[in-house]
Amino acid sequence: MITFLKILRLLPPEIAHGLALNALNILYRTRLLRFFYVKPKANPQIFAGLTFQNMLGTAAGLDKNGDYIDCLGELGFGFLEVGTVTPEKQYGNSKPRVFRYFEENAIINKLGFNNKGVDHLLKNLKSKKYDGIVGVNVGANKWSSEKERVQDYLLCIEKVYKHADYITVNISSPNTPKLREFHNEKNITGLVDAIDLKVSELNIQTPLLLKISPDESKESIDRIIEVVKKSKFTGIIATNTTIDKSSLSNSKLRDIDGGLSGEPLLKKSTDTLRYIKNKSDNQIPVIGVGGVMDSQSFNEKIQAGSSLVQIYTGFVIKGPSIVSEILRN
Ligand SMILES: Cc1cc2nc3c(=O)[nH]c(=O)nc-3n(C[C@H](O)[C@H](O)[C@H](O)COP(=O)(O)O)c2cc1C
Repeated sequence: MITFLKILRLLPPEIAHGLALNALNILYRTRLLRFFYVKPKANPQIFAGLTFQNMLGTAAGLDKNGDYIDCLGELGFGFLEVGTVTPEKQYGNSKPRVFRYFEENAIINKLGFNNKGVDHLLKNLKSKKYDGIVGVNVGANKWSSEKERVQDYLLCIEKVYKHADYITVNISSPNTPKLREFHNEKNITGLVDAIDLKVSELNIQTPLLLKISPDESKESIDRIIEVVKKSKFTGIIATNTTIDKSSLSNSKLRDIDGGLSGEPLLKKSTDTLRYIKNKSDNQIPVIGVGGVMDSQSFNEKIQAGSSLVQIYTGFVIKGPSIVSEILRN
């Protein structure tokens, strides 16, 4: 396993990612995974009326199309979040668009919602064997206008709600131009009202979460708290990647375009999580994500008020053993 991880480090990030997930899938399908990997024990948690096998899940982006649900589920995560998925398939930004910095425990990505479209994901949701919680993260196509983007979210919600355990409305990717403008007062109100209306029309019972950026002002977060409180949304996922590179030790990396994740994001994302919990008097359930690299950073999220925790960069950099390492402690 360690040699394999070393080889992956030498390959371009997107190739390494695909190779790692395909290797995991082969081990799963040939039933050999159990010889390489010991699943952590369950520690059930209730969140949004759902039972999660434990508090640690995958963050969106790791399995954008739901192609690896069964094998990722076999690693003992408490839940998986697939997506971001958009109505139409799209290529995303030009390559190279993912950069790993092992010495900083960080990734910078500017993928831009590359995905195979919502219908492909839906097929995978319908055929999965994994019986744990699977959330679906939805977004908007790059070419959609501001108004069309609201429709994009509605269309994805309508398509997946019967097959998702929860749905995440992602307004916080920094790599789709103007997407983060959904944090603004007029836009967030318009989007949430439109989603609320759809929820009522279709009598959707699937919990909805709003995934926000760590780069917002306090005023903007205050507004979002108020909008979420009054809406049919269950809670918030805090946070997506940051465009603020000042926490990187190597100043040469600060000019690289894209969203920063991993250890340098930990403080900023946990501060946002803590702020939401305090400001809302603990009324808004929050899933914490950003910079979880070990059991200490995992516990920091819980102490800040996180009901569940997600991980992406830590899993890529440290490999599957991080799941049991975190859950054992
Ligand atoms: C390569 C890469 C792709 C990502 N893609 C998505 C995505 O499609 N949708 C999304 O909501 N977040 C996406 N994220 C953000 C993660 O879900 C997570 O919020 C962020 O990376 C912080 O967690 P981490 O420090 O554990 O990586 C992506 C992150 C990375 C590194």
